[in-house]
Amino acid sequence: TAKTIIAPSVLSSDFSRLGDEVEAVARAGADWIHLDVMDGHFVPNITFGPPVIKAIRNRTDKTFDCHLMIAPADPYLAAFADAGCDIITVHAEAGPHLDRSLQAIRNLGKKAGVSLNPSTPESVIEYVLDRLDLVLLMTVNPGFGGQAFIPAVIDKVRRVKALVGQRPIDIEIDGGVTPETAPLVTAAGANVLVAGSAVFKGGAEAAYRANIGAIRQA
Ligand code: DX5
Ligand code: ZN
Repeated sequence: TAKTIIAPSVLSSDFSRLGDEVEAVARAGADWIHLDVMDGHFVPNITFGPPVIKAIRNRTDKTFDCHLMIAPADPYLAAFADAGCDIITVHAEAGPHLDRSLQAIRNLGKKAGVSLNPSTPESVIEYVLDRLDLVLLMTVNPGFGGQAFIPAVIDKVRRVKALVGQRPIDIEIDGGVTPETAPLVTAAGANVLVAGSAVFKGGAEAAYRANIGAIRQA
């Protein structure tokens, strides 16, 4: 099986040096860059949007994995595509027309993802499987870095893996990923791990390299 993809979330980086942080974590072994977009409405926090993503786009060739925690999402999909996101993930809970949102993302030429909050059952993806490139399972309630991993979601990872079958759909985990929790979700079928605080602790490239290595080896 293919190697696990590590996607550091810049939410835990130093925003005053965001471009440098993206370069540092890319050099340190990140596979993708995870970008947490929050609107203060769908989630109780506000981060950044398309202009900031565009500003850091030329700092690395790594895949920009954009996690939209915004409602509505549809009016902004084109702006995130134009900003340079490669994967655009919307929350199933963020709007009533998931099928339409996923079609819109692919029509923009981008990979389409759906994210599920910890309490959302996996059945919401059943009829959109053929429109999906990625399923992002939240193992914390979205809004903040540094929260504790919710183990009840491990069973959902197994169920999503079974639903996905042989389709080329990535299964990504986000929230509380550490060297301790990573093997629990990869054993259940996840192949992409987001990590914010566990990667950016230490505040410098050498630490990021060690932190990414520790998650990879776990
Ligand atoms: C939470 C975000 C996550 C967050 C993860 O709403 O979607 O990507 O940055 O942070 P850690 O890894 O610290 O739980
Ligand atoms: Zn995220």
